[in-house]
Amino acid sequence: MSPDPTSAFLDSLFSLEGRLAVVTGASRGIGLAIATTLAQAGADVVGVSHALPEGDSPLRAAVEGAGRTFTPVSADFSDRSAVAALAADLAARPVDILVNNGGTIRRTPAAVHTDDDFDHVMDVNLRSAWVLTREVGRQMIERGHGKIVNTASMLSFQGGITVPGYTSSKSAIAGLTRALANEWAAHGLNVNAVAPGYVATDNTHDLREDPERAASILARIPAGRWAEASDIAGAVLFLSSRASDYVNGAILPVDGGWLAR
Ligand SMILES: NC(=O)c1ccc[n+]([C@@H]2O[C@H](COP(=O)([O-])OP(=O)(O)OC[C@H]3O[C@@H](n4cnc5c(N)ncnc54)[C@H](OP(=O)(O)O)[C@@H]3O)[C@@H](O)[C@H]2O)c1
Repeated sequence: MSPDPTSAFLDSLFSLEGRLAVVTGASRGIGLAIATTLAQAGADVVGVSHALPEGDSPLRAAVEGAGRTFTPVSADFSDRSAVAALAADLAARPVDILVNNGGTIRRTPAAVHTDDDFDHVMDVNLRSAWVLTREVGRQMIERGHGKIVNTASMLSFQGGITVPGYTSSKSAIAGLTRALANEWAAHGLNVNAVAPGYVATDNTHDLREDPERAASILARIPAGRWAEASDIAGAVLFLSSRASDYVNGAILPVDGGWLAR
């Protein structure tokens, strides 16, 4: 029997069979959805988070349930030596896809936003992504291909409210994405970012617990709902696959129309 031409066509664009993907912040929320989707598309997964169990976890169940191999790695992104060690570990593996998704947020008005809050968020959201990308990107350049997907935010485009460190980190992620795309496109690497809108995860727990903020956010979303983590994963699959081979330096909003308003 001849193969289904539609399925062969979709595979040629989106299959990650034989690829090794690293997903940071993979234990829960958006990262868990991304890792699950990449595994379902055929990638083996190295999952990274602050404290990822070696044994059973929802992430392991999702990746192994998709028939792929799973490797858990724990590292505290606010610890620079831990990030350097992680980068060296990852750079020794044949990584095809790096999704820099791990992140945190500290919410306090700018006038009382401490240096510790600012530095912590910048280290976890920006500096770790930079160090991991530089080290993994170097081996991708040697191998002549690679997909790097950073996690931006609406606050890569807007100022936000009472999150000055977070906005600084996510605005810088957009700049870093463009800078690396410029340098590395000629080496066969695609560096892009996904910019989630408002997603129902632990990161936005406090917003959703504040009835006024929650209502004003919902009222501004043309799609009329908050995103689920799974809403973000399809865009990351696109940016991780051959379908995006001519996409370089894009910051792709997945926001229910928030920025279009
Ligand atoms: N939720 C949204 O509305 C939204 C919107 C735009 C952008 N984003 C971005 O999307 C990404 C994922 O967010 P999320 O909503 O899924 O967040 P989440 O549910 O709070 O999950 C955060 C992830 O990052 C990891 N992480 C946190 N601090 C870390 C540290 N110090 N070292 C290493 N890993 C650390 C956590 O690991 P552990 O589980 O081990 O602690 C977890 O895997 C973040 O970059 C976030 O800024 C989120």
